[in-house]
Formats: sequence, C-alpha cells, structure tokens
Amino acid sequence: MTPQRAATGIVEGVVVVVGQVARDLVLAVDGLPGAGGSATVRERQEVLGGKGANQAVAVAQLGMSAAVVGVVGDDPAGEAVLAQARRDGLDVRAVVRRAGATTALLVDVVAGGERRLLEAVPDEVLLTAADVQAASGLLRRSAAVLVQLQQPGTAVSAALTIARDAGRFVVVDGAAREEGLREQVLATATVLRADAREAELLLGRELDGPDAVLAGARELVGRGPRLVVLEAGPAGNAAAWEGGGELVPLTGVDVADPTGGGDSFTAALAVALLRGEDVERAVRWATAAAGSTVQRLGGRPALSVDELDEQADRLG
Ligand SMILES: Nc1ncnc2c1ncn2[C@@H]1O[C@H](COP(=O)(O)OP(=O)(O)O)[C@@H](O)[C@H]1O
Ligand SMILES: [Mg+2]
Repeated sequence: MTPQRAATGIVEGVVVVVGQVARDLVLAVDGLPGAGGSATVRERQEVLGGKGANQAVAVAQLGMSAAVVGVVGDDPAGEAVLAQARRDGLDVRAVVRRAGATTALLVDVVAGGERRLLEAVPDEVLLTAADVQAASGLLRRSAAVLVQLQQPGTAVSAALTIARDAGRFVVVDGAAREEGLREQVLATATVLRADAREAELLLGRELDGPDAVLAGARELVGRGPRLVVLEAGPAGNAAAWEGGGELVPLTGVDVADPTGGGDSFTAALAVALLRGEDVERAVRWATAAAGSTVQRLGGRPALSVDELDEQADRLG
C-alpha cells in the first residue's frame, strides 16, 4: 500500500485535497438563547475552514506539501480564506474564485461539547467537474489524492477518474449519496474512511456495536479498498485490511467540540501511510490526530508530528 518513498523516509510530492473551502465562524456559548433572547459568546474564531481546507492544513502541519482543489467566492471572505491558506503553506493555485459568496459555516458550541451547525453553501461556489478537470495535471502528479465525498457527485467522480487513470494513491472520506458513485469510490479508493453514520450508508444497514462495524469494514475491504477505517462510536475506530483487522480505541481526551475529528483523522492516516508506517501504527497516529482536534474549538487542526508520535505510542 506504501507509495514511493525517498531514502530519507520523507515523502516527496504533493498531497492534493479535493474538497470544501469555507469561512468558519465558531462561537462558543454556554447556552442557546430562546426566541428574542441573547447569549454571551465566550470564544470566537473566524478562520479558514471547510473539510477540504482542514484536511489540507492537517497535511501541511504534519510536514507534507498540500494543495487544495476547491472553490471560493469573489467576496472579501474568499480573499481572507485564500490569504490564510497561503499563510498555512497550502498551494491554492487550483482553488477557483467565482462570482458569488464564499461558503460560510457557523458553528455554535454549547457547553458540554454539543454542536450546532448553520451552513450557507451557495450553488455557485460548489465544486464542478470542470473545476476538477482544470486541476488534472496537479492530480496526476500528486503523491496522493484525498477526496472529501460531501462534494457534488460529478466533481467527485471526475477526481476519482483522473486519480485512477494516473494510478494515484487515493484516500476518500465519507459516503457518497449516489449509489453509482459509491461503487466508483469502492473501485478507486486505496483507503476509505467514514464516520459512524456514513458507514451505515455505505453498507446499507444499521451497524449495531463495534463487532458489526469491524465486520462491515472487512466486507468493504473485499469490495476494493486496501484499508477501510470506520468509526465505531465510543469503542474507537474499526480498521480492516487484507489479512487483518482490529478495533483501535480512542484517546482518552475530553471532547470540547467534535467538529473536524474525522478530517484530522483522514489527513493523518494518509500522511502516516505515505511515510511508510505500517497500518496499525497509521491508524493510531490518525486516532491521535482526531483526539487532538476534538479537544479544540472548531474544526481547524493544530497538529504536530511529535505529539502524534507520543500519543500513538500510548495507544500501544
Ligand atoms: N477522544 C477521541 N479520541 C480520538 N478520536 C476521537 C475522539 N472522539 C472522537 N474521535 C474521532 O473523531 C472522528 C469524528 O469523525 P467525523 O464525524 O467524520 O468528524 P468531522 O466530519 O467533523 O471531521 C471519528 O473518527 C472519531 O473516532
Ligand atoms: Mg466526517
């Protein structure tokens, strides 16, 4: 499963993330006001967000080059998030700017880590197949392609086709809504990762308990991907690959906000595998990354290789 690796153990090449780029407004409140009421915001962030951008930021924080294929509007928010992405070291040359408003996500986090999300996703800034085609050279040259499946199906399909034809290492996160696309995902993905709800959608049945999730992951490995990791609730994540499988427990952290846990997980899993880690270690590394991000408000990661190494050691 390991792609080419330089003699130094450092992987050359760019990880290209196909996915959402947004402006996140994160507000932490102790309680939500009723109609006509008001609440004091304890903490506020206005940052580059969106699942695609968050995955790319995580990849860059973990020491690999990252590029994004996505869309922002021609508004000041689009300008601001692109500027932040550049400061984060991301290659944003394949981020399209189109007339319209940049996707905005409003995340309310109430005490206790419960989250509410308001999403403003204008049609004109959705990723299209043509946007992906325009980045085909970048995708073909990449070390790996990460595809975030909450994007329009035609754009996802275009990315998968280009990546497959070029024989790329493909990591997908989520579950496509369209059944035909789910088949293409299984046929193309090297690594497939999904949260608990997406896992049930992928398998078309309820998954009652961690053993059922692990069995589901094994079943999906039989349908194409070399590694499948499915969220198994409080039991952790179920990983299955040819000839093996296990449940990897969560890190024992207090969850401040679950947002972005899966995005950090996916990005770290990809980087670990590209670095040549074995599957068991890579899943622990990814778990450590998710654990780090859920301790923080908002979906934006703050990862470091040293922290993940240390946390992964603890997970045994
Ligand atoms: N304490 C924890 N330690 C490690 N991982 C955690 C912890 N709590 C939640 N996670 C992981 O976070 C991930 C959340 O996934 P997901 O719902 O896809 O998040 P998002 O889409 O917001 O990025 C899951 O893989 C879950 O196992
Ligand atoms: Mg997710």
